[in-house]
Amino acid sequence: MPVGSVYSRDEQIDMLWWLKNKREMPTKYMYFGVGSKRWIRYTSRRFTEDSSKSIHMLERVLITKKVSSIFDSLAAYGYKNYNIIDFGCGDGSPTYPIFQYLKTNRPKAVLKYNPIDISTDMLDFASKNVKRGFSVTGERNKWDLDAGSFAHITKTLRKPNMGDLYLFLGSTICNMPDIRQDLVHFRESMQQDDYLLLGAELLKEEDMGTIMKEFYSANEIFDLIMTPFEYLNARRSNFTYRVIFNKERAQLEGYLIPERNLKVRLADKEFTLEKGEPIMSYRSVRFTTERLVSLFYKAGFRIEMFTTSRDNKYALILAQPAI
Ligand SMILES: C[S@@+](CC[C@H](N)C(=O)[O-])C[C@H]1O[C@@H](n2cnc3c(N)ncnc32)[C@H](O)[C@@H]1O
Repeated sequence: MPVGSVYSRDEQIDMLWWLKNKREMPTKYMYFGVGSKRWIRYTSRRFTEDSSKSIHMLERVLITKKVSSIFDSLAAYGYKNYNIIDFGCGDGSPTYPIFQYLKTNRPKAVLKYNPIDISTDMLDFASKNVKRGFSVTGERNKWDLDAGSFAHITKTLRKPNMGDLYLFLGSTICNMPDIRQDLVHFRESMQQDDYLLLGAELLKEEDMGTIMKEFYSANEIFDLIMTPFEYLNARRSNFTYRVIFNKERAQLEGYLIPERNLKVRLADKEFTLEKGEPIMSYRSVRFTTERLVSLFYKAGFRIEMFTTSRDNKYALILAQPAI
């Protein structure tokens, strides 16, 4: 499949910039085309019995436990109808416990579901899945969170008499290159009585060995990371794969190292991935509680709820713009 069938010209220019200037393929490009199906296949294991430790399961348990108090917070403003704005929506499934709660406990509520994602494939999956299971209306928006403020989008999604709940789930924040700036954009796109619910992985250095092992052994992860390179006509066998834990940045980094010079074409320009030069193709930051809280405060939020999984691997935060 040619690269242009999946990535827009602007996306190709962006990829080229990252490859040339940072020797990095941003993680966000792995969710396009076949990558969206690969992601869903990989995470579909998340709700099986043996996946009790997957971050998706940890997040679902936390949301299920806290969902009633989240809507009590919104109801305190008198809202009886809800507008759910799901950033980095994936297949939409992390919203199920939220919509299930509303269906059972607030059956008269009018509900909107607005997924926002860089990948139109993900937007398709999320819209279809949520509409299949729940009575919702809403619109989808393609947007790259790295591209700047998205206040113009949330403004059009706002509806009178509906409480807005912004979601940023599945630890997507951990893959973002500029987390501080992203939180500022969230803050700027929200009104005083809106809420943001965000899930993030916490740093447990003692677990990094096991996590890195999974990164090496799970073929699905390698497949995912390979997605944008396959659209550039490269093959798995063209690369050596390395995973490291960068202690200084507290982030897991996945690298692809070309085994020979590889010519690729992006936005009609030729570029060579040099033999032996590692390309960072995946990043996942791990937060200490202190760092996460400090990022929220510095971005201008007040934290209404901060809860962690029993094993302290995952945090769920409910925050609101500080007055
Ligand atoms: C780790 S998945 C999480 C999906 C879902 N929230 C979940 O918990 O299952 C990341 C999602 O965010 C999207 N995404 C990643 N970077 C993005 C960006 N810069 N702008 C918009 N969407 C992005 C991906 O396309 C993907 O759907």
